Amino acid sequence: MSAKWYTCESRGNNVKVLVCDSYETLSKKAAGILAGIVNVKPDAVLGLATGSSPVGTYKELIKLYEAGLLDFSKVRTYNLDEYYPLAPENDQSYHYFMNVNLFDHVNIDKESVHVPDGNAADMNEACASYEAMLNEIGGVDIQVLGIGGNGHIGFNEPCDEFVGPTHVVSLTESTIQANSRFFEKIEDVPTKAISMGIGSIMKAKKILLVANGAGKAEAIAKTLEGPIVPQVPASILQLHPDVTIIVDEAAAAGLKEYHA
Ligand code: GLP
Repeated sequence: MSAKWYTCESRGNNVKVLVCDSYETLSKKAAGILAGIVNVKPDAVLGLATGSSPVGTYKELIKLYEAGLLDFSKVRTYNLDEYYPLAPENDQSYHYFMNVNLFDHVNIDKESVHVPDGNAADMNEACASYEAMLNEIGGVDIQVLGIGGNGHIGFNEPCDEFVGPTHVVSLTESTIQANSRFFEKIEDVPTKAISMGIGSIMKAKKILLVANGAGKAEAIAKTLEGPIVPQVPASILQLHPDVTIIVDEAAAAGLKEYHA
């Protein structure tokens, strides 16, 4: 298990980057950061993400819980996004994903779990009430993020301007294609979602992004070393004061500063 820290300064920012020798190392390191926050602050508010990238991190958190090293009883969580329309009980929903991959295995109070309502009759109202909740807590203590191959975070797809609050998103063809691997057929992938906006994400006190595999290399390079543009939504993270990005060697392949 080896990992190397460096601080990415190529665009004048100070993002902490940890390049790991394997997905397992990456997952252990990310879980260690989250566990540290919960141990220091038992009622921490965690912003959580779905997708395959953080699954290993959640597995490691479960292990820490099972070993008696982590207590979720006072933790509150807010998830980034949810497909629309999709009921929380649907096994393709992100709510279901979180239950299966984390919540069902730890002692979290399900009343403390929040996922945007993919079943709401009025999606704009669902977005507004989710954003109001985020404002009320004044930003999560740490926001976990994955990243799409096109640089999206949450479901903030590349577009012509950054969208601030929680909003309804039309998914791009490339994201529908990428996410179809979890569905029986591509026609089953919802074309819309409710997602925290860039502003909602940037309110987090700390950001932890995990990415692995060659398919993320270009997005990671653009995020860290490219211009801050809405066409690469994750590039906005360069403006956040406390960002940690944990990647494996494959996802770090395009980072010039790391390989210099
Ligand atoms: C989805 C999610 C994102 C996630 C992305 C990458 O689109 N909405 O939050 O980061 O997929 O997923 P994966 O980690 O499976 O590559």
